[in-house]
Amino acid sequence: SGTLGAAAADSGRYFGTAVAAGKLGDSTYSTILDREFNMITPENEMKWDTTEPSRGSFNFGPADQIVGHATAHGQRMRGHTLVWHSQLPGWVSGIRDANTLRSVMDNHITTEMTHFKGKIYAWDVVNEAFADGSTQHRSSVFQDVLGNGFIEEAFRTARAADPSAKLCYNDYNIENWTDAKTQGVYAMVKDFKSRGVPIDCVGFQSHFGAGGPPASFQTTLSNFAALGVDVQITELDIAQAPSTAYANTVRACMNVARCTGITVWGIRDSDSWRSGDNPLLFDGNGNKKPAYDAVLSAL
Ligand code: XIL
Repeated sequence: SGTLGAAAADSGRYFGTAVAAGKLGDSTYSTILDREFNMITPENEMKWDTTEPSRGSFNFGPADQIVGHATAHGQRMRGHTLVWHSQLPGWVSGIRDANTLRSVMDNHITTEMTHFKGKIYAWDVVNEAFADGSTQHRSSVFQDVLGNGFIEEAFRTARAADPSAKLCYNDYNIENWTDAKTQGVYAMVKDFKSRGVPIDCVGFQSHFGAGGPPASFQTTLSNFAALGVDVQITELDIAQAPSTAYANTVRACMNVARCTGITVWGIRDSDSWRSGDNPLLFDGNGNKKPAYDAVLSAL
């Protein structure tokens, strides 16, 4: 198959990209998007600072634009993200009362998931809750005011809001099996599965340096999958986009039955949040880079 999406579909997987609503009118951008990708993650439009900039006042306009595009072009959507310490409005990060914050968090999850109900394949319910170099949660308003149970609370609320969406935990620096952070997330997923806390998938952001994935990446993916969750590569980009690094990443997913798809974090290098690293599959003119061919061959 001659495109990333079609090649991934040959093994029942998807190939996605992050999309910015403001770029949909750029025809070079949308032509590549609709030719190559069959899954879309909004790059910023579903984050709290956009969707609920003040308490109880919701703005789904920019995300609706992306969902509308996806529907019109037969692409599925990943929802990103409901509970995250970053791109969080000050009115939330300033809450100090636990009952208030719990109801604010649950209302945010329920209202956003209800708005998009039936249109989202998988939600990143909680993003980046673990601390680097540690098995523990990072400090955030959610952690500091609600305690360790905030992640479980978020997942239970999410399941009730849209029972047909897959519910994911998403993070970075959890690709290397022996890292403390990887072990911390693994222990959480194992605990959730043993106690019946709803969780369906783990997203590995995979923002890699030029060396690409750690040698243990496939082991990490298969160990998580063995807990009974799907695994996905959710925000892939690799500094300088070496072909080998990209191919190794794709192979790690292809070798794990429950690795259901790969998303790159943008289309052209010029679209990347790390544009100085030229980390994507298309150059600034929309031309395929060598890494594109390496990915296509590895799918
Ligand atoms: C990034 C976006 O790409 C930028 O446009 C924005 O300014 C900051 O966020 N981890 C995540 C993504 O989960 O949401 C982040 O996206 C990149 C790191």
